[in-house]
Amino acid sequence: MNSHADIAIIGGSGIYDVTLFEDPQEIRVETPFGLPSDDIMVGEYDGTKICFLARHGKGHRISPSDLNYRANIYALKKLGVSKIIAASAVGSLNRDIAPLDIVIPDQLYDRTNSRKNTFFENGIVVHMGFADPFCPGMSEILYDVMMSRGYTAHKGGTYVCIEGPQFSTRAESRVYQSLGFDIIGMTALPEAKLAREAEMCYSMISTVTDYDVWRDEEVNIASIMENVAKNTEAVKDIIASSIDGIQDIQECTCQSALDGAITTDRSLISY
Ligand code: ADE
Repeated sequence: MNSHADIAIIGGSGIYDVTLFEDPQEIRVETPFGLPSDDIMVGEYDGTKICFLARHGKGHRISPSDLNYRANIYALKKLGVSKIIAASAVGSLNRDIAPLDIVIPDQLYDRTNSRKNTFFENGIVVHMGFADPFCPGMSEILYDVMMSRGYTAHKGGTYVCIEGPQFSTRAESRVYQSLGFDIIGMTALPEAKLAREAEMCYSMISTVTDYDVWRDEEVNIASIMENVAKNTEAVKDIIASSIDGIQDIQECTCQSALDGAITTDRSLISY
């Protein structure tokens, strides 16, 4: 069985497959951190080897705090993936970003507090740059595809990642909004940090399901679920139209991110 893939798609809430594959195979990938959220679907799309992982497991079984982010990223690295397109549902903290819009964030703000956020431990210490957490080349391609296909898309924006699983209080939401953050979600971290440590390009398609509670409204779960369902087809369409361009990206600095890192011993690091 050929289980190699160049590009991975991590599906968020509501996206449990991408129906893109020619000849797909589901494989179980073991890692030193345990199993990823689910078996990984590996196949080809238009001549490019791709794979798909449902971040929360099929049927949404795993809460954001309980995800084994390290196993997920490690498993993709083990398959040979160098580029990850991640999808996630988010709330809006910005008047100009409405439900059903799509944001390609360029910044992250970490409000998580209970997640393993590095591969490096047990005598290996690595300090590496993370100033720009998303791959600019991949993000550009995703944004251009969205514009050309008529989606309401926003290029750039700060994603604040909360621990969850509860949504924010109104006070928290108003603080995030007043700090100028644009969108709020529960899963971009530590996923993006681990992808950078694994020297993979990582970009996110953030689909907006609601205005968070900084406005006087409540987060309405029924309308979030409705918008998740509406966004699913858009995400699949954007991914299908982006694979070709993303496949063409060569020599991105994300893929040599450890070169500038401060490490105890570079030779100890292997995947
Ligand atoms: N995911 C979707 N909407 C959200 C919100 N308002 N807060 C956190 N995560 C979300």
